[in-house]
Amino acid sequence: MHLHKYEKIWLTFGIGSLVIFLVVLAFGAFWQGTHPQSHGVTIDPENIEANDAFKPENLGITKVSDDKYIVNIVATAFNYNLGVDEEGKPVKDIRIPKGSTVLFQVTTKDVVHGFNVAGTNINMMVEPGYISSYETVLDNTGEFTIVCNEYCGVGHHLMFATVEVYE
Ligand code: CUA
Repeated sequence: MHLHKYEKIWLTFGIGSLVIFLVVLAFGAFWQGTHPQSHGVTIDPENIEANDAFKPENLGITKVSDDKYIVNIVATAFNYNLGVDEEGKPVKDIRIPKGSTVLFQVTTKDVVHGFNVAGTNINMMVEPGYISSYETVLDNTGEFTIVCNEYCGVGHHLMFATVEVYE
């Protein structure tokens, strides 16, 4: 079989592109694996309480200074654990004054969950073994729903909590 010069060039180019693509895919998806965007911080999913942020008494919202807050959350199938109130009832709503800088820190013990505060730029993947964190300034008032956008099981659609930003 005789191949024309240009056929050879294009064939080489085509196969070369495919090889490069497969190498990039193998490196990115299989060698590095999947992880949340802010995957720098790891945690033992069997013992998250060893990390101060995820001790039961430190869950939910904590005021750090005048306009700075930290919100620690454990995502579980199928709930966002924000701690308990004075009566021991689970907190489902966090209230934050407008203009505050808020650091959200989220982890999970079980499966991959999402952490999306609908209507804001807060959108994280939460994976066992990692702490997903995101700091932002909440400039818009309103009630925002925290939703799970990673399918995590039969109760996936029941996972929610709210963030209320008030004037
Ligand atoms: Cu948690 Cu979907």
